[in-house]
Order: sequence, then C-alpha cells, then structure tokens
Amino acid sequence: MSTKILIIGACGQIGTELTQKLRQAYGTENVIASDIRKLNTDVVTSGPFEVVNALDYNQIESLIEKHQIDEVYLMAALLSATAEKNPAFAWDLNMNSLFHVLNLAKAGKIKKIFWPSSIAVFGPTTPKEQTPQYTIMEPSTVYGISKQSGERWCEYYHNIYGVDVRSIRYPGLISWSSPPGGGTTDYAVDIYYKALEDKKYECFLSEETKMPMMYMDDAIKATIGIMQAPSENVKIRSSYNLAAMSFTPKVIAAEIKKHIPEFEITYAPDFRQKIADSWPASIDDSAARADWGWSHEFDLEKMTTDMLNHLSKK
Ligand code: SER
Repeated sequence: MSTKILIIGACGQIGTELTQKLRQAYGTENVIASDIRKLNTDVVTSGPFEVVNALDYNQIESLIEKHQIDEVYLMAALLSATAEKNPAFAWDLNMNSLFHVLNLAKAGKIKKIFWPSSIAVFGPTTPKEQTPQYTIMEPSTVYGISKQSGERWCEYYHNIYGVDVRSIRYPGLISWSSPPGGGTTDYAVDIYYKALEDKKYECFLSEETKMPMMYMDDAIKATIGIMQAPSENVKIRSSYNLAAMSFTPKVIAAEIKKHIPEFEITYAPDFRQKIADSWPASIDDSAARADWGWSHEFDLEKMTTDMLNHLSKK
C-alpha cells in the first residue's frame, strides 16, 4: 500500500520544493499539498491541492480522513523577523498548528509527523561556535521561543504517547525556486537576486555576522532522509542539529564577485541584526550524521554557482 502524505504550508519556501520532491518519490496522487490560500501555481497545478487553515483542527482532521493520510509535514509557520512584529499571532500559529497535528497522531489518525525546528532555539548564552546538540538554550525571539517549546512538546508526545514525530533544526535556507518570507537569514537569498538584477546589494546585517546556512537541495534531502529513516535510528525526538556551511555577508559577497566582478555590497543593519547576533555562528551536527546518515552536498562555492545559474535562467 502506498504512503499518503499531507503537506501543510506547501506554498512556502520549503513547502514548494518539498512538494515537488515528495511527488517524485511517492507519486503525485499520494502527496496532497495544502495551504491557507492558492499561493503558488506550481504547487497548486502539479497535483492534489486543498485549502486549509493550519489553526483549524477540524479542517485538518477531515482532510486526513478524506485522503487517508499516513504522514503530515507541517511547514506552516511565521519566521523570526515577521514573528517579532506579531508575537501573539506567531505564538498562536506556530504552537497550535503543532498541537493539532500531534493530537491527531495521538488519536491514531496519522502515523508520522515532520515538524521543522530552527537554529533560533538557541540564544545569546549558547556557545556560538560548533554549537552542540545539547547545550544552553535561552532563545530571545518569539520565533525561537515557539520552536523551543515545540521541541519539548514533540519529545513529550513521543515519550508519553508514542507519537512518531521527527524534526530538524534548519539553519538559514537558500533557494532559487521560491522566495523566503520574513526570516533573518533571508539576506543570503536576496543577495543573489540583487547581484544579478542591480549588481549591488544593501545588506540588513553587518559584514561580520556569521550564521549557519544550507542550500535547499540539502535541506530537502535531510527532511525526506529523517522521515524515511528506521524509527529506531531517530534517537532524538526533540530536534536534530543540522549543518552544511557557515559564512558572513562579506564572504558570500566575495564568492558572488567571482561570478559578477562588478558586484558591490553595502551594509545597513536593522532590527534583524540583534536576532542574528543571538544565534549560533556554526553548528555541530554529528548526532544527525551518526544516527540517520545525514551528509550535505553543497558548500558556498557549489551553491553560488547553482543559484546564479538557475536565477539567470529565471
Ligand atoms: N531562517 C529562519 C529565520 O531567519 C531561521 O529558522 O527566521
């Protein structure tokens, strides 16, 4: 029998590419994409699509029953910068959508959940370099607080109710096929667009702000990888550290300059600087590598070549 998958928040930056990859792997008809609106034509026209509000338990439950869903990927969330502007709604959306899905699994209506966490679970008191899997976690953003609480609840539902929930702490994600929305790491996507269009970019972070980053291809590989891993290999049920590369705005600008020599970057840090300063500079992801065989393919050089190729065709 084939696995039937529901993606909630399928039109977002991760959901868009995840939907295509899951449809290739599991068959188009077995992957139901959903979002609050029909926001992305590729996702909406390439297979089954449903409009769903991630805060409406009954709507999610009836979708799961209608399509006999086995696995849910819950990708709907407010990211760090947007969440600071609307803390109450960010808390409501990020937490209650997770509770809905956890409770549906607890009730036996679905077998497996993927829920994304983030480097935002760490805070200013966390060791900055090679941040360990287990360390001080005092997040100072609404987004980080919601993700850290979510991790605790995932582990709780696994330990107490046997819910098979799996999670990754994504670093900043860089992609060409759909734009990010409202994150602090988004500069590392915008910079490629502006380099091609205007040959210049004004960065909202300072030149030495080093953060962990990952190309979307690797992030999707990790997401599907942890979901397909044998249950006993997924030993951590809060969320796994995950890493590929770390760089500063200055370093990514220098890499782009190798392709576009006229490119110039300037710096005008805004409120997002404080968020970035509270996060790790690099991540130790040895647990993910050991437990379920995670490895990355893209470094800064390979990613930059790929991004610029795809975006210039676009
Ligand atoms: N990329 C996210 C953000 O900047 C972090 O998870 O909000």
